[in-house]
Amino acid sequence: MERQTIITGNWKMHKTVEEGVAFAKALEEKTAKSKALVYLAVPFTAIRPVAQAAARIVVGGQNMNDATEGAFTGEIAAFMLKDAGAKFVLLGHSERRRYFNESNAFINRKVLRAFQEGLQPVLCVGETLEEHQNNQRDDVLFRQLSECLDGVSAEKMATMIIAYEPVWAIGTDLTATPEEAESAHQYIRSLIDPEVAEAVTIQYGGSVKPKNAKTLLEMPNIDGLLVGGASLNLDFFVEIVNYNTL
Ligand code: PGA
Repeated sequence: MERQTIITGNWKMHKTVEEGVAFAKALEEKTAKSKALVYLAVPFTAIRPVAQAAARIVVGGQNMNDATEGAFTGEIAAFMLKDAGAKFVLLGHSERRRYFNESNAFINRKVLRAFQEGLQPVLCVGETLEEHQNNQRDDVLFRQLSECLDGVSAEKMATMIIAYEPVWAIGTDLTATPEEAESAHQYIRSLIDPEVAEAVTIQYGGSVKPKNAKTLLEMPNIDGLLVGGASLNLDFFVEIVNYNTL
């Protein structure tokens, strides 16, 4: 099955509105010939201006709360992201799990809320270095996926994105080899209802750079990339999005 390649930039806590808008406009212009669909997960403040500045780029948030609305100082609700122009939301990123103690149960409630409000969830999963060294990758992925996707129908799952991001590869320059990543992606796909498994987009994330983007994307089960550091640099990100012209 031919799945659309989706390349997402995750800006994390970087860029002003002005910087974000200029970046997105230039990115759109320089990647017009790419076969990939481009997503940008931007800071909340930049969602509306970036979405307005670059219509071909799919803009989303990097987190949200699980409640519909209410007295949760400092949090943001799914409907607010949508209202600002977001089409998707990253959920369960390892930085959220690690620095903000997000549990699988909490992430599961966010996934369900995102679906309810019509936002596409991008669920991040992946093992830590210690788990990797102890050969616990599959156990971790099984637990994260079954707990975070509890109560999500096969039909809904077909419309979401799963991002495999081995924690040991994030921001470390230690990319998983294409074979290592492919094996994790195959395992993830084997856990999804066979009725829809072939339709689900599974992205790889963790030290993706222009030099390794193409070989990762050549793997049959790697349908896209989630790019952190290299998505902050216009030249690097343009090269990654234009992988098919490299
Ligand atoms: P990185 O981050 O590309 O800087 O490793 C990836 C991510 O955290 O999504």
